[in-house]
Amino acid sequence: MSIVFQGDAARGRIWQDIFAEAEPDLSFHHWPDVGDPEAVTYIVGWKPIPDLAARFPALKVMFSSGAGVDQFAPHMIPDSVSLVRMIEPGIAATMAEYVTLATLLLHRNFKAYANQQAEGRWEQIRVYPATARTVGVMGLGNLGQAALTQLGHLGFKLRGWNRSPRALDGVECFTGPAELGSFLSGCDILICMLPLTDETRGILSASLFVQLPQGAGLINVGRGAHLVEPDLLAALESGQVTSAVLDVTDVEPLPPGHPFWTHPGITLTPHIASMTQPETAARVLLDNIRRHRDGETMIGLVDLGRGY
Ligand SMILES: NC(=O)c1ccc[n+]([C@@H]2O[C@H](COP(=O)([O-])OP(=O)(O)OC[C@H]3O[C@@H](n4cnc5c(N)ncnc54)[C@H](OP(=O)(O)O)[C@@H]3O)[C@@H](O)[C@H]2O)c1
Repeated sequence: MSIVFQGDAARGRIWQDIFAEAEPDLSFHHWPDVGDPEAVTYIVGWKPIPDLAARFPALKVMFSSGAGVDQFAPHMIPDSVSLVRMIEPGIAATMAEYVTLATLLLHRNFKAYANQQAEGRWEQIRVYPATARTVGVMGLGNLGQAALTQLGHLGFKLRGWNRSPRALDGVECFTGPAELGSFLSGCDILICMLPLTDETRGILSASLFVQLPQGAGLINVGRGAHLVEPDLLAALESGQVTSAVLDVTDVEPLPPGHPFWTHPGITLTPHIASMTQPETAARVLLDNIRRHRDGETMIGLVDLGRGY
């Protein structure tokens, strides 16, 4: 039995050390070294590997090293292989930090002040307390809930929208397409924390932006393909959206010359909102391997039909 790690070499070394101590009988390989391909039972990585079934006939579980799994199309995963996404406390903690920072940037007009500084202007914008603003999160999963907990500590009014009903302390919750309009109508700052699926692709579009209060802020930490990029540019132009913080874009890295690079209403980061923390993630992987061996349900098991 062996596990193949595909990804950042430094993270791989940390995992290899932890595995050597906890699972000495499971040989650990760094891609592209896979050892004996017929002995590979687990792969952990981010990028899809073609011809999984033919190359690794004993493969049982493909672990995504990140929270999202939209890079794995269902046809890439053989019927005999389970796909498991990463649910670990480090991802949730770093995502909650990022979303808190981005919300405060929008709430306290920091992009406007950055633009002013670049132009040598000194102009004050009225300050409102957090209690005067409503922040809405789309997608009330692991990461959405972690972010809402942090935002609640700052005093923002909170809303959430989700596919299935949720009841969260201090959060006004809305469910499904029928309640999307009511949810959006109260969101001064909207945060997308959805998985990318056929239903959510392109959801951040002109028809959604017009349902927000005039001058709303937008944060996208889901996937770039959630956003219809020309629609955001039009919404910024009209003032329907005043400012956006984007951690993800449709094409990554964002191509040179793309209008987002220099737009005065857009703050960009290179897909770093959260990152898997190798130490905590290794514990989660080890627990899932034990669960798999003991015939228990693994944490983060993906429903391929649903797409997340
Ligand atoms: N930028 C970054 O660095 C970064 C890092 C990690 C993750 N992400 C993104 O964040 C996403 C969320 O991660 P997570 O761990 O929170 O996932 P999760 O625990 O699976 O939560 C996803 C939530 O979205 C809801 N949802 C799915 N489809 C929906 C739809 N059509 N309408 C309304 N709600 C829907 C789900 O509702 P149900 O429970 O009812 O199905 C669930 O509550 C990932 O898929 C990834 O795209 C980004």
